[in-house]
Amino acid sequence: MSLRPQKTVKRPTTPYERIGRRAPVTHLVQRFYDLMESNPAYAELRSIHSDDLTEMRESLTDFLVAWMGGPRDWFDKKPGACIMSAHAAMRGIDEITARQWMDCMTEAAADLAQKDPQLAQSMLTSMQSMGKTMVARAKAAQEAKVATDE
Ligand code: HEM
Repeated sequence: MSLRPQKTVKRPTTPYERIGRRAPVTHLVQRFYDLMESNPAYAELRSIHSDDLTEMRESLTDFLVAWMGGPRDWFDKKPGACIMSAHAAMRGIDEITARQWMDCMTEAAADLAQKDPQLAQSMLTSMQSMGKTMVARAKAAQEAKVATDE
């Protein structure tokens, strides 16, 4: 039996640890909104956002940090907030803007996809499925509104 000390490999416990904590998430979000602001392919998506994206840059970063298992500042700042209900109530959430959101996020995550393809893929797959549900819920909310308006 060897008496040499065993090398312990510390594995990241959450996607937040695995991505490298807050700085890479900030980088991803900055890139996402920079692309949304500059690439005409995302024009419809840009048009449903506020003119000034400063708050959104912070909010999406806080949300993703918490969503990946890091500090829960987004939830602490917005007690009781639900990201799915928030989107269901927004105008302009449809297949076109959802497609642009995913394309824009996929482009923003190119660095991550190079560094850690598995993490990038699982993050994008989860976002895609959230986006699909957001569109379905926004449609249902819109239809219910039309029905009560009639
Ligand atoms: C279906 C695709 C999506 C569309 C079209 C969309 C669109 C929007 C819009 C228009 C806003 C409000 C922006 C503003 O006030 O300027 C917003 C806010 C936000 N979105 Fe999305 N979004 C989508 C998917 C997602 C996904 C998948 C996530 C999370 C992984 C997300 C996270 C957020 C967050 C955290 C906020 C800020 C809410 C707050 O802090 O009050 N969105 N989104």
